[in-house]
Parts: sequence; C-alpha cells; structure tokens
Amino acid sequence: MTGGGDAPGLNGIIEAASRVLLKNNIEVVGILDGFEGIFSRRTKTITMDAIMGIHSEAGTFLGTSNKSKLIGRADEFQNCFASLKLDGLIAAGGDGTFKGLQSLAPDLKIIGVPKTIDNDLQGTEITFGFDTACTVVADSVDALRSTANAHHRVMVVETMGRTAGWIALGGGLASGADVILIPERPFSREELSQFLTKAHQDGKSGMVMVVSEAAKAKGENAIFTESLKSSTGIRFGGVGENMARWIENNSPWEARHVVLGHLQRARQPTTTDRFLTASMGVMAAELVLNQKWNRAVVYREGKVMDAPLSDLQGPPREISPDHRWVKLCQSLGIFI
Ligand code: F6P
Repeated sequence: MTGGGDAPGLNGIIEAASRVLLKNNIEVVGILDGFEGIFSRRTKTITMDAIMGIHSEAGTFLGTSNKSKLIGRADEFQNCFASLKLDGLIAAGGDGTFKGLQSLAPDLKIIGVPKTIDNDLQGTEITFGFDTACTVVADSVDALRSTANAHHRVMVVETMGRTAGWIALGGGLASGADVILIPERPFSREELSQFLTKAHQDGKSGMVMVVSEAAKAKGENAIFTESLKSSTGIRFGGVGENMARWIENNSPWEARHVVLGHLQRARQPTTTDRFLTASMGVMAAELVLNQKWNRAVVYREGKVMDAPLSDLQGPPREISPDHRWVKLCQSLGIFI
C-alpha cells in the first residue's frame, strides 16, 4: 500500500519489494489508493510483468490518498482488512499513514517504508523523493537565472516542504541560489533588504531567491492560503508572491515569482532516489520473508537498515538552525 502524498520513488519500492517476494513464491497483492482501497476492498494482484521497470516513473502504480477519514473506523478497517486475507502489509507512507495504521489496527503485521519529498520524517536521515524534489528546485533555479539576469530582476522560487525547509535548502544550495529562506530560520526583513540593496549597488545582474512555503520573517507567522481540516492540516502557499511584492517595495529590484508546486513530486526519480528505493524495497521484502514484523526500513549513517516502526512517529524532523548545510550557505555568501 502507498499512502499520503505521492513521492518519486514509490514505484521503485513497489517494484523492488515485489520482485523479491514474487521470486520467493509469495503472492503479492497491491492495495489501491491507500486506506481507501482497504475500506472498499479494492486490490490488484501484482505480477512480475506488471511491475518490471516501473521504478523509473513518478507517481504510484497503486494510487494513493491523503484525505482519508479514519477516526472511529477501527472496526470497519479491521473487518475489511481481514476479508482481504493478507498475512501482512508493506506500507510506504508518511507520518499520517503510520499513525493511522497504529490507531486503526495496532495488531496488524506491518513493515513501514518512510516516504515524503519533504524529508522531515523522524527515524530516518533521508526519505526517497527528496533528492528528486531538490533536483527540480535546482534545475529551476539554474533556468531562472537567465531571465533574472536578462531583466535585472529577483526571481523568487517557492518550494514545498511544509514546516521543514529541506527542499528549499537542498535545492537552493545545489544551485547556488542567492537567498534561501526556510521556516527554521525566521529572517530579518531589515537584513534582507540591506543584502538585496547592496547586491544591486554592487552591479549584480539578477538574483534568485528560494523560499520554502512556510518560511517566515522574525516575529511573524507563516503565510497560508487556506486552513483545511484534513489529514494534512494547513495548506501553505502564497509566500513566493508575497516576497516578490515585498522586494519591489523594499529594495531597488523588480521581482517576479514562480511556484514550483507539484512539479516537485512529478519528476522521474533521480538515480540517487532509485538506489535508495531499490535498497529499501529489497529490505522491506526481506523483513517479510524473515517474518520480522513491525519494523521500519530507514536510512542512517550511510546505510539502509531496519528499526522499530515507532521510530517513524513524532513531530516533523526540522533543520537545526546551525545544520552543516546552513553553515555551508553562510560560507558561500548565500543569505539564509
Ligand atoms: O508532504 C508533501 C507535500 O508535498 C508538502 O510539501 C505540501 O505542502 C503538500 O504535500 C501538498 O500536498 P497536497 O497538495 O497533495 O495536499
């Protein structure tokens, strides 16, 4: 089952885990559209032919959902799951998926594979999809630099990430953005205005600013367009446009903004993400073969390994304000 927002690499997990299980003569059944597929008993039998090669595609072969209503449905869930006659479940998902499974069916045999482009899950140092999302940001910054320089503008690039700035920091650092704004380091409007003004005075042609969707100025709240009562909570958005207008009013620059949005989830997985999902998918299947249930497949200290499933739960794993990537930005003269 794949649950929550899609992330490039989900198909790599499905392919790798299924290949190992099918080779070992285990019947593999895919659950369609996350929790929705369990409640409505919608599944498909997975065959080698169907899954070979899907690792190169974004999205998920099984479909997903991040809007399922779960509260008060434990009995319904357990009855539906029992009727599927499955021995256990490999779930690739985020915090919501694992919390949901824990509350609906605490006794289920589960292998968890952490997933989010935001890279903010507890218990693992990297989630698959993150490298691909950073690549989309870096490619965009590289491309936008040409038009920024041509028009002598600041191009503001808004990224995803919710309350964690990993995508903005990773993508902005990889592309040498001039300014990176992340939620974990509220910025000083005065210092930013001075930085932009000085760059203009120094004759810089154009600039690119990467801003994470929940970035905020010191003493202010993050900007969000809508407050949704859903499994994902608040929907952020609007900070890119807001910053572009602010730049025009508080510096000599003209500014425009681009919201990368779901393009960050839609690119073909990078090779780094493919290595990660191949290793994680194989390990998930091996845990099943060894009947080592209620484990998570995580990445720590350069290796894929297993850990207690409960390690994945907890608040978003945010960037520490003095993280080595922050220091790297500072050494390079990037405003952060
Ligand atoms: O959790 C991943 C994420 O991509 C966030 O960065 C973003 O805010 C959110 O999902 C958007 O999700 P959706 O539009 O699918 O509800």
